[in-house]
Amino acid sequence: MANPHEASARKRVFRGTLIHATKEEAVQVLEDALLGVNADGTIAFTGEGKELDRLCKEFAYSPSAVTHLEKHEFFMPGMVDTHIHAPQYSYAGTALDLPLLDWLNKYTFPVESRFKDKSFAQKVYTQVVRRTLRNGTTTACYFATIHTDSSLLLGHIADKLGQRALVGKVCMDRNNSVKHYKETIQESLKETHRFIAELLEKKYALVKPVVTPRFVLSCSGALLRQLGQLAKNNNLHIQSHISENVEEVKIVKELFPDSDSYTDVYHKHNLLTNKTVMAHGCYLSDEELALFRETGASLSHCPNSNISLCSGFLNVRNVLNHKVKLGLGTDVAGGYSASMLDAVRRALDTSKLLTIKDTEHETLTFEEVFRLATLGGSQALSLDDQIGNFEVGKDFDALRVNVMVPGGPIDLFQHEEPKIILEKFLNLGDDRNIVEVYVAGRNVVPSAE
Ligand code: GUN
Ligand code: ZN
Repeated sequence: MANPHEASARKRVFRGTLIHATKEEAVQVLEDALLGVNADGTIAFTGEGKELDRLCKEFAYSPSAVTHLEKHEFFMPGMVDTHIHAPQYSYAGTALDLPLLDWLNKYTFPVESRFKDKSFAQKVYTQVVRRTLRNGTTTACYFATIHTDSSLLLGHIADKLGQRALVGKVCMDRNNSVKHYKETIQESLKETHRFIAELLEKKYALVKPVVTPRFVLSCSGALLRQLGQLAKNNNLHIQSHISENVEEVKIVKELFPDSDSYTDVYHKHNLLTNKTVMAHGCYLSDEELALFRETGASLSHCPNSNISLCSGFLNVRNVLNHKVKLGLGTDVAGGYSASMLDAVRRALDTSKLLTIKDTEHETLTFEEVFRLATLGGSQALSLDDQIGNFEVGKDFDALRVNVMVPGGPIDLFQHEEPKIILEKFLNLGDDRNIVEVYVAGRNVVPSAE
């Protein structure tokens, strides 16, 4: 039975400022606009305020059921976190003093091994879903741990709290120094099959499984191959890490001397598809980017993590020039913040750093980064037919932003235009400014719980 506290989507119309990205325009502002939501949570229509009577008549909405946004409010699409480790939220904001491989062994694997305990998982997973939703992440692509039942629990919690999510049970059958945190290839495959079957059986509307080999260092060639086959047979999403850190890239070369590159290792094991998202990619060559483009695989740019673990810098401009799909990720807890607004800021900082190093580098604009956090993320997860902006027919995943919320972090001094207000929100705003969050038309923040 449905939870009686859960508000479901309902037929309604909003009137006010809409800001979203399209393929043509990184930031499109629609002032005094209308947006109609269907009872199934999809967008029925958009139009101009003056068309209210006509559109309400045409789509059978009562004009009295219109919600008017306040002067300093706007709607923007929900943000898409294309890479986040749910269990690592338990130590987010700490343990940032080591490079990747030492960090994994000293902090990450011991913590992840605790998720065998479902009550610990319940606590952390409830908090990470709540925290990210409240910060405007309407879609998250999660790594869980190797534990099937806890990973299923993460799917259940995302469904219950109303977040759209891809959830991956992590696979790893080699090179793990932590005694109780590893699988044999047989266990990994058997449990991955069970995870996918049981998650799909739940028929959650917004939560789907994603095949998740941790990264090449954690997986034998045989495991990678079988996971590629499994994803192919069932048309599933795939996620992993690639080319994050110099040491890691060197070891991959040693482990797979017959492969041309890190990207080639995944490609040879059928893991690069148009439903694949790979985190980081700081050290990819132009040839590797061309392979991403050919296969339709995408990248998740995780700038906080790349800086916090001293991993490197991704040149997003070069990735975009290669026409590779790209979204932003928090990569909690390598990235210390679970907020996508932080990912936006760190992406801009990283791009500016690249300009400091090379004045020829074309710095990303805040408009472009806004697009990456919304439409770009939806493309990176191959969900852009459903989410990413306010196109009619897509699901209404949206943030109601108020930049003048009492006690909030933003000050305005004159009549700033919407684009300036968006820029202030991206650079200065926080969850206090996100007064409502909608996922597939359902009002999930403030929550009904
Ligand atoms: N590479 C393999 N596992 C991980 C992880 O948990 N975090 C990051 N940042 N990189 C990884
Ligand atoms: Zn990661």
